[in-house]
Amino acid sequence: MDEQPRFDLTVREAWQETPLVRAIRLARSHDEPLPSWEAGAHIKVSVPRSDERSYSLVNLSADASVNTHPRSYLLGVRLEEPSQGGSVYMHSLKPGDVVAASAPSNNFPLQATTKPVVLLAGGIGVTPIVSMAAELRARGHPFRFYYAGRSRDQLAFLPMIEKLSGDNLSIHTDDVSDLFNVVGLMTSLSNDEPLYCCGPMPMIDLTIKTAKDLGWSAGRLHFEIFTAAQPKAGDQAFEVVLKSSGESFHIPAGRSILDVLIAAGKDPMHDCKRGDCGICQVGVIEGVPDHRDFILSDSEKAAGKLMQICVSRSKTPRLVLDL
Ligand code: FES
Repeated sequence: MDEQPRFDLTVREAWQETPLVRAIRLARSHDEPLPSWEAGAHIKVSVPRSDERSYSLVNLSADASVNTHPRSYLLGVRLEEPSQGGSVYMHSLKPGDVVAASAPSNNFPLQATTKPVVLLAGGIGVTPIVSMAAELRARGHPFRFYYAGRSRDQLAFLPMIEKLSGDNLSIHTDDVSDLFNVVGLMTSLSNDEPLYCCGPMPMIDLTIKTAKDLGWSAGRLHFEIFTAAQPKAGDQAFEVVLKSSGESFHIPAGRSILDVLIAAGKDPMHDCKRGDCGICQVGVIEGVPDHRDFILSDSEKAAGKLMQICVSRSKTPRLVLDL
């Protein structure tokens, strides 16, 4: 259920951070106070010809009031290729334009730890990660920040991140050396240091695989995905039946269970729509889910009793869900 109230925010500033990333600062009409937030939080912005897009809130300062008493929200929006309209719209915004946005919510918070925290950002994945660096800096908690991208001119917010992170920052660009060595970094970590990663899908996949290979304990790797789930070749239509009402829904290839239910006027709980927050999870009464999420463990997936309806599909012609 997406019950967060929407409110109007006015574009105060917008500038090109890199050739593909636009920074956008939003505030209320008279700069009234905004809801507070913590590193890893995002807001949803309504966009034309689609429903909404989630954007992480950016903090480039060790001043904690940016989070606790915000008067504006800063976003970093990458122009997607191909765009489904959301990033093109966001890049078209200019000062004075008004958008409808949700209050902040957070599926990617920093967890309490006594260990040094390791942060890894790939490309535009830097937006939640830099806010974590700012929060850790404000708390005086030790951290190391690895920021990887194709080239230096494509690293958004770099001067401010260098100032914020100082010697804690390591920059990696693919035009100078090979792809960032995720396995090497993770292998080098000791003492159960937690790793927070946000970046392109291959980077996330590699961190998940490496954590498994290295036998990391559950909850040591934290990640957030910013790309929408992609359909797979061979996806088939199937039927979903809701246990509570007995209603039946046709889920065609290329549409998620969640989107079909929302279009039918249902209001299932959801947030990320990428399979990484766990909020849309439902019980499976009958049928075999085709899991595509990043939440469930291998044993939970094998048991087939739970599924994330924003991304997962069905291996059987019919699923009965505990909804
Ligand atoms: S909405 Fe986040 S996992 Fe489905």
